[in-house]
Amino acid sequence: MCGIVGYVGSERCSDILVDGLRRLEYRGYDSAGTAIMEGGETHILRSQGKLSNLSVLIDEQKPQGTVGIGHTRWATHGRPSEQNAHPHKYGNVAVVHNGIIENHAALRAELEASGHTFSSETDTEIVAHLIDDAFKETKDSLESVRQALCRLEGAYAISVLLDGVPDQIICARQDAPLILGVGENENYIASDVPAILNRTRDMIFLEEGDIAVVRAEGIAISTLDGKSVERKPQKIMWDAMMAEKGGHKHFMLKEIFEQPRAVTDTIRDRVSPTTGDAFIDDFDVDMETLRRVVIVACGTSYHAALVGKFLIESMARIPVEVDLGSEFRYRDPLINKHDLLVGVSQSGETADTLAALREGRGKGARVLSICNVVGSTIPRESDGVLYTHAGPEIGVASTKAFTTQLAALTLLGIHLGRRTGALTEPKAKELINDLLALPEQMKEVLDHSATVDVIARRYANARDFLYLGRGMNYPIALEGALKLKEISYIHAEGYPAGEMKHGPIALIDENLPVVVLAPRGSGYEKIINNLAEVRAREGKVIAIASRGDNEIGNKVDDVIQIPDVRTELQPLLTVLPLQMLAYRIADIRGTDVDQPRNLAKSVTVE
Ligand code: G6P
Repeated sequence: MCGIVGYVGSERCSDILVDGLRRLEYRGYDSAGTAIMEGGETHILRSQGKLSNLSVLIDEQKPQGTVGIGHTRWATHGRPSEQNAHPHKYGNVAVVHNGIIENHAALRAELEASGHTFSSETDTEIVAHLIDDAFKETKDSLESVRQALCRLEGAYAISVLLDGVPDQIICARQDAPLILGVGENENYIASDVPAILNRTRDMIFLEEGDIAVVRAEGIAISTLDGKSVERKPQKIMWDAMMAEKGGHKHFMLKEIFEQPRAVTDTIRDRVSPTTGDAFIDDFDVDMETLRRVVIVACGTSYHAALVGKFLIESMARIPVEVDLGSEFRYRDPLINKHDLLVGVSQSGETADTLAALREGRGKGARVLSICNVVGSTIPRESDGVLYTHAGPEIGVASTKAFTTQLAALTLLGIHLGRRTGALTEPKAKELINDLLALPEQMKEVLDHSATVDVIARRYANARDFLYLGRGMNYPIALEGALKLKEISYIHAEGYPAGEMKHGPIALIDENLPVVVLAPRGSGYEKIINNLAEVRAREGKVIAIASRGDNEIGNKVDDVIQIPDVRTELQPLLTVLPLQMLAYRIADIRGTDVDQPRNLAKSVTVE
């Protein structure tokens, strides 16, 4: 959370910084600020709230400097306010930070005891104080940053400007992402790739513990203990246009419509309909010793992981456990070298997922990650990676990342199923053919969403929603409810339909819309009974049903039809109307769809 940008070159940097921050705003939008070198000193501009407030300040003051850093904040320590906005300046030092300094209270007390006074409630401000103290002694900018960092416990990506050293930015990372963009006589710093993709495609992914001195003419990287290291730039193939709205009102809507393309890109070249195989790039599982698959993830990625359990267990007949990163990491998990640990993460930076994977790897498990961001921390720390090819996802509410994760987990299921022999060649070929046909069917669902619009208008003012599903569609019920609450702020719950009578049935009355995932296939009869139970209590039922199911219309208030596909592939279709419903309702309610309150896209703190 929090986004960082930096620029060193010959152009006026304020526009570059604001443009980068705009692309990073999904990481937090409680406040924003810049520090720009002017006449050898940093000039700080900060404002509470969205980036547009900072832009107004910049337009008024027109800073001319060509070296600067910027920050967009998601508050952790200290409420959202101008005072707590980054950059924090103390003495000669201006700092922006993403992460949490865990020993900040002790360091602050120590600094206060030696006469320092603080102007914010943040953990970050101590970093500026520590560097300034060290700089007074050493007069060496890199050495003073290094000395300060050695005192910190916790996670940080930081960028630092020092008065009197006008031609450089020093930045560093530890357990929070930071990349460098390499240009011609100019260089960039950013929290992630899309922030600077319109400026350069050559990116250096800093490693944990790296410190970089970034100047226009070059970049020098060293480690915390002073060893100089070489990090080669990688060419990023994402298109800058992919990170634009492309005529859609919101990124989320654009990303919903991109899903057929994203799923195609994720499966293409990784399946063979002639042999019935699915390939996981450069990753081999020792099937002789494999006993179990454990999947860890957070948020929407966790819902994909829950679907993954069904997919892998049914195709490969290997037991699968799914856990939240934040739970797994703290319970001394029973995991060993006979387990395949799979981490699912769009950003590749989620702190809890990363920590869970480290925990499992430390205990001997092989780690495969399913990730969307090339070069991010989780894939770099995995034994193998299956990249989803969703392209940059900017909307905070995840959509195309989710469906591409489902596609990747389907590939993993097929791959393992073929290796265990539980999935026969003819069955695998059929499945792959159906999978390859799916993007077209996804497109069909998205192109025919008029019913969703009508339903959205009818229920936009509902107070609560209930989502019910069974089997593989139970995680989709969770995901549908999550999407709605994230962006419309309507309370929503996802529930396994069979559990309804153990609690949620008490909520049902004529004011409660209940979305029931009822495509044909396994569990269909049972779910029809569940929706009858809702109707008997006057609940309003919206069914997601298979095309050709002509009966269901008589039993519910509204039907959204989807093509009739095999059970394993249904989640890739059933989730689409739920994303669209959440989007339309949020849009009608006029919420900030792409940047819902209190959320951040990339949760790099615990
Ligand atoms: C945040 C985002 C979600 C995302 C979750 C996990 O909560 O708002 O959209 O699903 O983090 O993120 P990851 O990048 O690990 O998939």
